This record gives sequence, structure tokens and C-alpha cells, in this order.
Amino acid sequence: MAEIKRVAVLGCGLMGSGIAEISARAGYETWVREVSEEVARKGKSNIEKSLGRAVDKGKLAAEERDRTVNNIKTTTELEALNDCDIIIEAVTEDLQLKNEMFAILDKVCPPHTIFASNTSSLTIAEMAAATQRPDRVVGLHFFNPVPVMKLVEVVRTIATSNETFQRAYDFARSLGKDPIEAKDASGFVVNRLLVPYMLDAIRCLEQGLATTEDIDKAMVLGTGYPMGPFTLCDFVGIDTLYRISEIMFEEFRETRFAPPPLLKRMVSMGYFGRKTKRGFYDYSGEQPKPTQLGV
Ligand code: CAA
Repeated sequence: MAEIKRVAVLGCGLMGSGIAEISARAGYETWVREVSEEVARKGKSNIEKSLGRAVDKGKLAAEERDRTVNNIKTTTELEALNDCDIIIEAVTEDLQLKNEMFAILDKVCPPHTIFASNTSSLTIAEMAAATQRPDRVVGLHFFNPVPVMKLVEVVRTIATSNETFQRAYDFARSLGKDPIEAKDASGFVVNRLLVPYMLDAIRCLEQGLATTEDIDKAMVLGTGYPMGPFTLCDFVGIDTLYRISEIMFEEFRETRFAPPPLLKRMVSMGYFGRKTKRGFYDYSGEQPKPTQLGV
């Protein structure tokens, strides 16, 4: 089995930057590809800030931070990733965009290069089919915040070879994660269960069952969840949740995956959650306050 030495991450947003950070920390030369130099610089600077926080908390030595930063290279060219051993895409949930990138990479990368997707809701087979290497395409689904959450779902399609699956699984372990194997069904294990839960919480709010804060409090104090469902929706991103639910609804045609109207209204208004400082809560002050959503 070819050894993994060089890793590429497509996209340096919330998930991509986290994946690049842990990959570089694990000692891999890690290439981050973004659409422009400016976005790539911003992504790298977010990783540096995250590493800085780890140093301040005494969880990371300053030398290890410097070594990690040195392991990260940025590029805007997909062709520059032609000697990477594994490429993990973490761009927006847009199948066409992902497939266009994989089609280019398929031409420039050597046969042993594994293509992995961090998709939350698309099926991996849809991406594998767009390449000439479907046996070397897998899902590697990480969780936010990537440096903290131990899980990676390693997803095998009907065409993934055993060798590719094993290399991807071992790679996830080498990043300090504790992976599970999942079949290639939209949402895999976690989102199959988590997405209907978050959408149900929104339906409860729409129906006036209780307030935003009380529903959150109920799930934290009553079931020991680290965050209530609305805090979690804001954390994941309202726009992301909307996109995931649309894809899962399209796949299963089950109403439990259908986006509630309130979710759609929030997306239209740009209430994307923490990243825009407003979602189910308003984050502009010192303490988050529930947003007035007219429900
Ligand atoms: N990067 C690195 N480290 C972070 C971090 C980040 N973004 N956010 C928090 N941490 C670390 C903190 O440094 C802290 O570490 P120490 O204990 O070693 O000091 C630890 O995590 C706990 O953080 P805090 O004390 O600040 O806060 P907390 O106890 O409230 O924990 C949390 C924060 C880990 C995010 C916790 O609230 C949690 O587990 N929430 C649920 C997250 C979750 O469900 N994620 C999955 C979302 S779904 C998804 O990602 C997939 C998808 O497809 C949609």
C-alpha cells in the first residue's frame, strides 16, 4: 500500500481549515487549495489563530505550532496538487463544483491518489462516478470543531476497493481520530439521526411549544447534550443545515428531512448562525440573546 505523505484539502472554510490543521499537526505536508490567494491567506491565518489558542492553553508547544504552520502550503491551482497521496474536498455542498474539481484532479494525479469527500449529505458514489478511479474514492466525514471531535465517518461506496477503504481508515486514525465505517447513504450515521432532530426542534419552535432558550435548556439539562439544538444549528450554520436537509429530503422523500419554513426564511434573511453573528441567537453582544423570529 502506498504510504500517505502529502495531503491536500480543497476549501479552507470551517471544516477545511480544521482538517488541514489536524493533518499538518499529524506531520503531513498539507496543501490547502482555495479560490484566491486572499481566501487562502485568511484560511491559513484562521489555522494559525487556532494553533495559537492551543499554545496559550498549554496544549501545544510553540515549536510544534511552528512545525505545524511550516507543514501547511497554500495554492489556488488544482494542478499543483498532482503529487498528493490523498485529496480531501471540503467545499460547499454543490455536487457540480465537487465533480468539476475531481475531474481535473483525476487527470493530473497519479493512480494511487485517493479522492475523499467531507460531504455531509451527498452520496460519495455521485462523485466517484465522475472520475476514472471510482475504486479510489471514499468519504471522510469530520465533525465541527474538527480538532476536538473524535469521530470520522469513513464511507465506502459500492465501488470503493478494500485497499482504499483501509488506507483512508488508517489515515483517519493517524490524525488522532476514532473512525467508524458507514455505508454510502445520504447523511451517513450522524446526520441521519442529527438532522431530523434539529429540524424537529425548529418545528417545535414554530408550533410555540416552548421558547428557543427553554428548548435548548431542556435538551442540555434533560439529556446531557453539550449544546441545545438551536445553539447547535447556529454552530453548524443555518445555511449549511438548510442545504443538507434539502439534499436529504431529495434523497429519501421523507418529511422528517424537509426543511421547515422558518429555516428557509432565516436563510433568505442571511441569518446563518454564528458566522454572521445572527441565527436563532444574536451574537453581537457579550452574551447570546434569542433572535426575535416572530414565532
Ligand atoms: N477548535 C479547537 N478547539 C476547540 C474549539 C475549536 N473550534 N472549540 C472548542 N475547543 C476546545 C476548547 O479549547 C476546550 O479544550 P480543553 O477542554 O482542552 O480546554 C474544549 O474544546 C471544550 O471547549 P469549551 O470549554 O470552550 O466549550 P464547551 O465545553 O462548551 O465545548 C464544544 C465546546 C466541544 C463545541 C461542545 O459544546 C460540543 O461538543 N458541542 C457539540 C458539537 C457537535 O455536535 N458537533 C457536531 C456538529 S455536526 C457536524 O459537524 C457534521 C455535519 O455534517 C453537520
